[in-house]
Amino acid sequence: MRQMKREDSPHLALLEAAEAVLAHAYAPYSSFHVGAALEDVDGRIWTGCNVENAAFSAGICAERTALFKAVSEGVTSFVALAIVGRKADATAAAVEFTTPCGVCRQALNEFCDAEMPVVVAGGDGEVREYTLNELLPGAFGPKNLSDTGKRSK
Ligand code: THU
Repeated sequence: MRQMKREDSPHLALLEAAEAVLAHAYAPYSSFHVGAALEDVDGRIWTGCNVENAAFSAGICAERTALFKAVSEGVTSFVALAIVGRKADATAAAVEFTTPCGVCRQALNEFCDAEMPVVVAGGDGEVREYTLNELLPGAFGPKNLSDTGKRSK
C-alpha cells in the first residue's frame, strides 16, 4: 500500500468520477455512501454507487455496480479502480478510507489483473493505493478452473 496526497495521485480523474457518483448512493439503511469508478483499457470510466434494499441482501456495493455495468456492455478489461466512501451526514471532507468488501474483491478478481491499482480516498486529502493482489492474496480465480489459465467465456 502507498499513501499520498490526493493531488499527487496519477488517478485524480478517476477519484473525481467516484466522488461525483457518490451523490447517487441509495443507502437509507446504512447511511454510508460509496462511489466507485473503474477505468477500462480504452480509458473509458465506468461509475457505480451502492444501492441498498429493504430486503438487505438484495443490495449491492458501488464497486460491483460499476463492474457489472461495464461487463454488461461488453467491457471486461480494466486498468484502475477508485473508491470514495463517507457517512451520509458527513461533509465532503470527511471521506473515510473505504476498501472493497470481500465479495467485491472476488468479483473484481474475475476481470482485473492482480497488479491493478485500487485507489481509496481518505480524509485530509490523502489517498491510499493498493494492488488488487494486496487486497485479495491467494485469490481463487479463472485460472483455477481452466487448463490454459484463460477465461473461455
Ligand atoms: N459498501 C460499498 O458500496 N462499497 C464498499 O467498499 C464498502 C461497503 C456499501 C455496502 C452498503 O450499502 C454500505 O456500504 C454499508 O456497508
